[in-house]
Amino acid sequence: MCGIVGYVGRQPAAPILIEGLTRLEYRGYDSAGISVAGPHGQTVVRRVGRVRELEAALPKRLAGSVGIGHTRWATHGPATEANAHPHSNADGRVTVVHNGIIDNAAALRTRLAREGVTFTSDTDTEVLAHLVGRSTAPELEDRVLEALDQVVGTYAVAVLDAQSPDRLVVARNGSPLIIGVGEREMFVASDVAALVRHTSSVVHLDDGELAVVTSRGYRTFTSETPDTGREPTTIEVSDEDVELGSHGHYMAKEMAEQPETVARMLRGRLDTRFGTARLDGLNLSPRELRAFRRVKILGCGSAYYVGELGALMIEELARIPAHAEAASEFRYRNPIIEPDTLYVAVSQSGETADTAFAVREIKRKGGQVVGLVNVVGSTIARECDGGIYLHAGPEIAVASTKALTHMGVGFALLALLLGRVRDLSVADGQRVIAGLERLPADIAQVLGQGEAIAEIARELSGADSLFFIGRVRGFPVAREGAQKFKEISYRHAEAYQTSELKHGPLALIEPSRPTVAVIPEDDLTSRNLAAAEQVIARGGRVVAVTHAGVDLGEVGARRIDVPRNEVELDPILLMIPMQLLAYHAAVALGLDIDKPRNLAKSVTVE
Ligand code: AGP
Repeated sequence: MCGIVGYVGRQPAAPILIEGLTRLEYRGYDSAGISVAGPHGQTVVRRVGRVRELEAALPKRLAGSVGIGHTRWATHGPATEANAHPHSNADGRVTVVHNGIIDNAAALRTRLAREGVTFTSDTDTEVLAHLVGRSTAPELEDRVLEALDQVVGTYAVAVLDAQSPDRLVVARNGSPLIIGVGEREMFVASDVAALVRHTSSVVHLDDGELAVVTSRGYRTFTSETPDTGREPTTIEVSDEDVELGSHGHYMAKEMAEQPETVARMLRGRLDTRFGTARLDGLNLSPRELRAFRRVKILGCGSAYYVGELGALMIEELARIPAHAEAASEFRYRNPIIEPDTLYVAVSQSGETADTAFAVREIKRKGGQVVGLVNVVGSTIARECDGGIYLHAGPEIAVASTKALTHMGVGFALLALLLGRVRDLSVADGQRVIAGLERLPADIAQVLGQGEAIAEIARELSGADSLFFIGRVRGFPVAREGAQKFKEISYRHAEAYQTSELKHGPLALIEPSRPTVAVIPEDDLTSRNLAAAEQVIARGGRVVAVTHAGVDLGEVGARRIDVPRNEVELDPILLMIPMQLLAYHAAVALGLDIDKPRNLAKSVTVE
């Protein structure tokens, strides 16, 4: 979704802003713009399309060492140059970039229009520029505070005033905003990816907080507290982490990283002697962990599907009723929050609006919520009572791969810990730990089959519509398989429980609609094989994602074998071929793998 960058220092601002916007491209956007304040006032350049088109449109000499930039994902009004950010006030002195949604924008527009303001865009953001511009307060920070006092909604904003060209004023309420601390220069961004080239020292603003940022430093404040004294923290993300390197796509890079990142995630978290997991970040004592009678998992999209896997792991290993629900639905149904339920929010970005809202709703009602989050310091990570960081490293491709694998591992660790404070034996705990330790090599083995899987993917890419089927542990794998396939190949892909096929969808089986069937070696193998036979008997084609020990016999299916691990962990491995199938199908179709149409990396609006 939308991205913000800002710079104040001694270097020319424009190249730094353009580079920062390029780093945010992965979030998805349809237009971009920058404004730079220099000796001759403020220059604003905006373009529909890619950041490189914006760069090409910049004047040759664009002096000025303070500026703001934005990539816009259209919400209020179509993707046009007039609607692109930055937005200006009437005399062009004040420019504003904004992520989020101003809920009372219509009322503010009506009031401002009545007062004589002429609007040049359809956006909610433009009202902010006018409100700041019309304030008579002496300092820019006071004018921004006064403007935001009139606003209801979510925002991360950065404001530049040509009359105060030594500073930026930024504010956050519900959308992330980070300050990067440099040597006599400061940076502003909505995402660390835009900062890592310049600094690893960052300041995360809280909701309701503002900051005045100059080349010499910053001061954080709120409407009540003139100095909130927020200190910088050091981030672990390096420049290389967000570089493409020798890979053709970020998705390929992120899939390839999994053996290494999973091994890293597990480091220090396995207690082999006692057959349990060390998860100090949960901030829960064994007594507190034991007291939970239920687990409720909340996430969106693929995170929700991995949450379904997590619920199964928790039920199997800890024998506590566990259930996953889409956070986007949960938040709208006045959920009953129970004191003996452990709520788990799962999110790669930590910024998904629906999941963040669910966390707030749970906390408002006194519930206990922990997070399985990848991005350190993100909104969800900070708002939860504790959690398990996924440590997958930055994920740039819109289609999530390694972060989902890490979510699966995170749930396995949580299930192990919950099991070991209950009835799971040390020996069973040690069995799961041994399985977790084998995961990196097992993942590498699946990735090593890339070429064979690519060939199958090329065949599948020719179909307009596909089924993905699985049951029990295999069903979330099928759901995620279908999700990944449709996200980047734009092919219709539908997931079904294998057991439900004969209750309707069998009618759709025909040679042109292949079925990807998850058939692990477990107590349901023969039933899964029987279903695959039924599909083939009706003229369908089947690709089995399976284990080497499964005899497909007469079934006549193509097969992708993944190594067998422990039965509870097998779904994590079964998801890897789903990533590869989707990736290679999209490559075969020549599509924009890392930035699929209509999608954004983190969905920070409702
Ligand atoms: C995954 O490939 C998708 N892009 C999407 O479903 C994603 O998982 C979902 O939007 C949740 O994002 P989050 O993990 O950042 O909360």
